[in-house]
Amino acid sequence: MAITSGTPWESQRMPHYPRLKKGGHFDVVVIGGGITGLSAAFFLKQAGKKVCLLERTHIGSGDTACTTAHLTYVTDIRLAKLAKTFGEQQARAFWQGGIAAIDAIETIAREHNIRCQFRRVPAFLHAQLHGNRGETKQLEYEANLAGKLGFDARFVKSAPLVDRPGILFSNQAKFHPMAYLAGLAKAVHGGGCVISAETEAKEIEAHPLRVKSEGLEIDCDYLVIATHVPMMGITGLVSATLFQTKLYPYSTYAVGANIPRGKLAEMSLWDTSDPYYYLRIDRGTKSDYAIFGGADHKTGQAEDTNAPFDDLIHTLKQLLPEAEVDRRWSGQVIETNDGLPLIGETAERQFVATGFAGNGMTLGTLAGMMARDAVMKYENPWQKLFAVNRKKLRGGAWDYLKENIDYPYYYLKDRLAPVEADSTRDVKRGSGQVVKIDGKRVACSRDAAGKLTSVSAVCTHMGCLVHWNSAESSWDCPCHGSRFKPDGSVIAGPAETPLEAVKLPPAAKRPKRVPNTSPKR
Ligand code: FES
Repeated sequence: MAITSGTPWESQRMPHYPRLKKGGHFDVVVIGGGITGLSAAFFLKQAGKKVCLLERTHIGSGDTACTTAHLTYVTDIRLAKLAKTFGEQQARAFWQGGIAAIDAIETIAREHNIRCQFRRVPAFLHAQLHGNRGETKQLEYEANLAGKLGFDARFVKSAPLVDRPGILFSNQAKFHPMAYLAGLAKAVHGGGCVISAETEAKEIEAHPLRVKSEGLEIDCDYLVIATHVPMMGITGLVSATLFQTKLYPYSTYAVGANIPRGKLAEMSLWDTSDPYYYLRIDRGTKSDYAIFGGADHKTGQAEDTNAPFDDLIHTLKQLLPEAEVDRRWSGQVIETNDGLPLIGETAERQFVATGFAGNGMTLGTLAGMMARDAVMKYENPWQKLFAVNRKKLRGGAWDYLKENIDYPYYYLKDRLAPVEADSTRDVKRGSGQVVKIDGKRVACSRDAAGKLTSVSAVCTHMGCLVHWNSAESSWDCPCHGSRFKPDGSVIAGPAETPLEAVKLPPAAKRPKRVPNTSPKR
């Protein structure tokens, strides 16, 4: 069966919102039309605020679209580690945030009649798929601790399908993320609130608080930055750079496969390895569907971005030999040093939310509630725990240094390394290479039809050199994870400006002459 690139969600029709024709004043401007931005706009509208949501392209065009949409309060960082680092009360609070988010999604979907296939499902955290099986004690301890802190969890000797010890967490959930976003957007737009698509926030000024976007000036009393990696906004350069050092961008991969109907119950599973594998089972009409993900690596640092898909397909086939893989895609998650997200004000009247790791849907929703509470000046139980300016390196200073070595390391290494190609003629169809032209490193890519596109290989964030991602046909930066389309436009920050276009000298554009080696007739 042919494997197509793209998620199972992409057939969802998304509502289109035209670009604002003129500026004006709103109570709150939200930048970003993913789960965080739309949730924030929704809760703020509910609280009586006039909101303007700006989206660079269209609703759900960012990393929300790439999620596998497990909804769980179980965090990537183990409960025992959370309790040891932050104390049991705070560990419980973190998990309760996930419960609050799942309940909110369920309520919103029901009250606004959003047909997003929301379902409560059991979830299993189980011993490593590829490791030895000596994890029973840790899993028992984790299950007992979860029970002690009030969560519905119990140790099981054998989790379904994988036949490994694990923990059953009842009452987790899953949904169709794009159907949910579409419904959320419809609930936001109108009644004094507006969504403006194709509206890139180019400049942000502090006094008055103002967002500028090619001829538009939108003033507001409060700004919510809900981009995957927060834009700098009105934060100073030093603070923004320091903030960036707390974020670790990872690429994650997923495949989708048809499996025999009724063989497995609808559920979620994930293992304890690092990076971990995750599996979601959906009921279908003719066949059921499995979504299997994992094989994460730091963005921009993989030699071969097709290899993770091979790993996933191989591992899924070991679990489910009948699986017929028909889709593959990748996305990006942002991790933090201590495993907690960063949600709160980075400047006066400027709110950001990021660092959700593998809990993007739940923490994005929770961040929306927290944005409302920050604007409305309500007390919020997670405000201190997730504060963006928490100083202590609770995840460990060594980890912090290790994750941040990328910037000087790749900055220097890639400049000292030989260029990948001497000529654009070496750039094959459907691929990209960095070519040295007139002494400059140029990121050259060729589409399937042979058209060459060339942009500067120097990342506009802090000057590292971008690497070609063959799985996604993008230029990815190994230093802080910015991603760019072949034409240089920004897919994901922290870079806020496109890669500079490079006009090639005519000789550099000529296609490579392939010697005719066919025998003469
Ligand atoms: Fe920071 Fe590229 S230099 S993302």
